[in-house]
Amino acid sequence: MAGYRVRAAELGDCQEIMRMIQELAEYEKISDQVKVTAEDLLRDGFGEPAPLFRCLVAECEDENRKKAGPQLVGYALSYPVYSTFKGRSLYLEDIYVTPEYRGKGIGSKLLTAVAESCLSLGCARLQLSVLDWNQTAINFYKSRGAHDMSQEEGWRIFRFLPDDLQRMTSKDADAN
Ligand code: ACO
Repeated sequence: MAGYRVRAAELGDCQEIMRMIQELAEYEKISDQVKVTAEDLLRDGFGEPAPLFRCLVAECEDENRKKAGPQLVGYALSYPVYSTFKGRSLYLEDIYVTPEYRGKGIGSKLLTAVAESCLSLGCARLQLSVLDWNQTAINFYKSRGAHDMSQEEGWRIFRFLPDDLQRMTSKDADAN
């Protein structure tokens, strides 16, 4: 597609990726949950010994837009996970395209690039979660072949937050 290219994120992209993470959180109505900073992204995505995630960005190649301001119009952030059933896998944490650039194939280009990484890393699966009201994204994944594991196998998402972890570990400590 002319006008946009997908490339691996670089250190200098962290501020713009941070901006898009905030935009995605606003879209998902959970912006108060964003605590990560551009410095965290820099440390965790580009630090030693091994980056904790990989990020692809979609860049607008329009020179006028470049001069006018932000030039990144999308990103896809993923990291390795391990399935004891299937082995090496990749988790797609976020995929996002700036509103005025949606519907132009940029999201597909990002997802295809993630799929290529997945295959080249020998991964058995690409996993992701999506909010149940986000029908646009659900359609986007389904039309590209994704399986809805909540429907097919009844999986639900659980999460322990720091307070829960503290409570659990202090209870265990009390019991000892
Ligand atoms: N907005 C969105 N979709 C549109 C629009 C539009 N204005 N116009 C048309 N579409 C259709 C396209 O025709 C296409 O249809 P298809 O699936 O039948 O091919 C589809 O919607 C979008 O395809 P693309 O253009 O390749 O994708 P896009 O660049 O719009 O990116 C994405 C898709 C990433 C889901 C984008 O809509 C987005 O950022 N949404 C908000 C954030 C979001 O929901 N992210 C995913 C959350 S879940 C997670 O991150 C794991």
